[in-house]
Amino acid sequence: METTTTARRRCSYSSISSLLMATICVTLMIYPSHAQLNATFYATTCPNVSTIVRNVVQQALQTDARIGASLIRLHFHDCFVNGCDGSILLDNSGSIQSEKDAGPNTNSTRGFNVVDNIKTAVENSCPAVVSCADILALAAEASVSLSGGPSWNVLLGRRDSLSANQGGANTSIPSPFEGLSNITSKFSVVGLNITDLVALSGAHTFGRAQCRLFSNRLYNFGGTNNPDPTLNTSYSISLQQICPQNGSGFSVANLDPTTPDGFDNNYFSNLQNNQGLLQSDQELFSTTGAATVSIVNSFASSQAAFFQSFAQSMINMGNISPLTGSSGQIRSDCKKVNGS
Ligand code: HEM
Ligand SMILES: *[C@@H]1O[C@H](CO)[C@@H](O)[C@H](O)[C@H]1NC(C)=O
Ligand SMILES: *[C@@H]1O[C@H](CO)[C@@H](O)[C@H](O)[C@H]1NC(C)=O
Ligand SMILES: *[C@@H]1O[C@H](CO)[C@@H](O)[C@H](O)[C@H]1NC(C)=O
Ligand SMILES: *[C@@H]1O[C@H](CO)[C@@H](O)[C@H](O)[C@H]1NC(C)=O
Ligand SMILES: *[C@@H]1O[C@H](CO)[C@@H](O)[C@H](O)[C@H]1NC(C)=O
Ligand SMILES: *[C@@H]1O[C@H](CO)[C@@H](O)[C@H](O)[C@H]1NC(C)=O
Ligand SMILES: *[C@@H]1O[C@H](CO)[C@@H](O)[C@H](O)[C@H]1NC(C)=O
Repeated sequence: METTTTARRRCSYSSISSLLMATICVTLMIYPSHAQLNATFYATTCPNVSTIVRNVVQQALQTDARIGASLIRLHFHDCFVNGCDGSILLDNSGSIQSEKDAGPNTNSTRGFNVVDNIKTAVENSCPAVVSCADILALAAEASVSLSGGPSWNVLLGRRDSLSANQGGANTSIPSPFEGLSNITSKFSVVGLNITDLVALSGAHTFGRAQCRLFSNRLYNFGGTNNPDPTLNTSYSISLQQICPQNGSGFSVANLDPTTPDGFDNNYFSNLQNNQGLLQSDQELFSTTGAATVSIVNSFASSQAAFFQSFAQSMINMGNISPLTGSSGQIRSDCKKVNGS
């Protein structure tokens, strides 16, 4: 869309007069380089793909209450690095430095085996047509709706990358230790605004986080020898049980202490109670004067408003620089470029 608008603007320049230039401009407007995804992309080639994905996610939830959270996070970490192109799924190989070994992902992202199970189920019904990038988008929606959250029509038609970008994963994925302004700019770079930031952070209504990613807030925050002042005291004491001072940084706590596995708007009332687990969560509410505060308040007071915005922002995130048309490929194994 942006490309179309740009093309239209350029085409109005009076210097463009030749028939050749006019033809190029018309072509640009008909075939914008940012091709659109759409909800019916597999209507003839794999009509049941959403059901197939959903059934595998539902199966996995029977034995792992956390898996929905882990799956939606994979889509997020995929989309923020070179767009939603399945790049996060590639393993190390001769030419690939896997994003799985990037700082934000190593010992942290999970659910790759479930993605492989989904891919196998999809290939059994419709061989060689559904991309791994689209599987991540579909699995994210299934995870949210199966956990009590909203449903939305997932836009489809992404293709899979031929490469990974480990360095990009190190720098583009927000860190929980970053300030709100840094995180806001990482969202802005991929075209997401602060409404998207607050809504999508609401995904921390389910799933877990490791002590090593927030325990600096419990004992000696910023060298003060005191806990983070924006951390609720009674919540801090319960977190200290899970994360003792010299304990394993790999132990995990629930991101939402009130309803750990349900997808609801309690994340936002937690923030109002100073019960955001990560520094990056609490900053949305506790940063004086930030425009995020009123958005947190509106989502805390209306689950419907949160669900509506969350669905829209998931679509916005899913639209980040997809490969479409004949770019990239449909991988037959999500872990490897075809033929490698
Ligand atoms: C705003 C910036 C964000 C930061 C700084 C951030 C950071 C984190 C961190 C540090 C963890 C814990 C990882 C671990 O313990 O290994 C986590 C977990 C999680 N994140 Fe985020 N995140 C952000 C945004 C998002 C977004 C946009 C989504 C999805 C829409 C998301 C979904 C999740 C989920 C569901 C989990 C739990 C995963 C599990 O239990 O396996 N996060 N995040
Ligand atoms: C789609 O899936 C449903 C349930 O999994 C099944 O009953 C139905 O026959 C499938 N339809 C097609 C066209 O495969
Ligand atoms: C990953 O976790 C294991 C323990 O679960 C630990 O031994 C290893 O050092 C960790 N690696 C990194 C890079 O954090
Ligand atoms: C990304 O970060 C990881 C861990 O912090 C590091 O081992 C790796 O070398 C980095 N990769 C690149 C390409 O910067
Ligand atoms: C925030 O971004 C600036 C500029 O890129 C960087 O120098 C700084 O280290 C970042 N802060 C944190 C806490 O990551
Ligand atoms: C963010 O973008 C959405 C459109 O997706 C828009 O409705 C919303 O008002 C924007 N938020 C801000 C704070 O500009
Ligand atoms: C944690 O380890 C530090 C030194 O590494 C020590 O000074 C401190 O007393 C220990 N704290 C606890 C609670 O064990
Ligand atoms: C701390 O959390 C409790 C709920 O567990 C809440 O009643 C209280 O108001 C919170 N305190 C602060 C300072 O936010």
